[in-house]
Amino acid sequence: MEKLDLMVSDEIKNGLDTNILGNRIYCYSKTSSTNDIATKLAQDGASEGTIVVAENQTKGRGRRERRWIAPMGTSILMSIILRPQINITEASILTLMAASAVAVSIKYVTGITAKIKWPNDLVIDKKKVSGILTEARTQGKKISYVVLGIGVTVNIPENRFPDEIRDFATSLSMEKGETVSRIILLQEILRQLERRYLSLMNRENYELMQEWKNLSSTIGSRVKVVLPKRIFHGLAVDFDQTGALLVRLDENQVKRFTAERVMHLYHI
Ligand code: BTN
Repeated sequence: MEKLDLMVSDEIKNGLDTNILGNRIYCYSKTSSTNDIATKLAQDGASEGTIVVAENQTKGRGRRERRWIAPMGTSILMSIILRPQINITEASILTLMAASAVAVSIKYVTGITAKIKWPNDLVIDKKKVSGILTEARTQGKKISYVVLGIGVTVNIPENRFPDEIRDFATSLSMEKGETVSRIILLQEILRQLERRYLSLMNRENYELMQEWKNLSSTIGSRVKVVLPKRIFHGLAVDFDQTGALLVRLDENQVKRFTAERVMHLYHI
């Protein structure tokens, strides 16, 4: 039977073969931010794998409190509750893991190649198509929960593209020239994410690191790194174990940058 492309629980569950992710599904036609709802649920004890999905957000947000804009019914707007047994210093690995899962899913479902722009963007030919917002709550040095927010711009046609983001964003339907099933893509993201999450929890990091590097548009690029009070230029050469970016500066020294400190990263 043809799937309806509505973000409702029955449609998402139909054919979903994950064990953890999506075990509880909360769907909203309109909400403030799925990350806010998921945070509240996590505080109230919601189990790992609970997801929150919306058709529309009034306060969708990205990294550094930037706005996330998505016209009603066009995108995947999802937040996932995780309870990983890791230290807070390792939390940014989860962002990279999610970015890989989304990139692989986009390729699998649409055939389109999306690359990871460190730390949390997915781009198609330099235009943003997805963003990941990881928000963690800690107890001491340990994480008590993580809310992994994922936005994917799926079906915005050229003539409905919001002016604010037109110059630097794109949608999968624009790239493919046809509508893409959000439900099928969302299910694939959950599947790909769960596989990577289980590997990560088993400390099988090596393959994931290799995958991130292969999917990265940042490694090998000349970059301008903007911190609150300084700007650095150099060649992005690698990530370290925690997901921080290593840049060989023009003075030849290699410097490590964490996502928390970097305000902007430009590929130049
Ligand atoms: C970024 O580009 O900096 C991250 C964007 C993350 C957007 C998603 S949409 C679902 C979830 N809810 C939010 O308010 N933000 C994330």
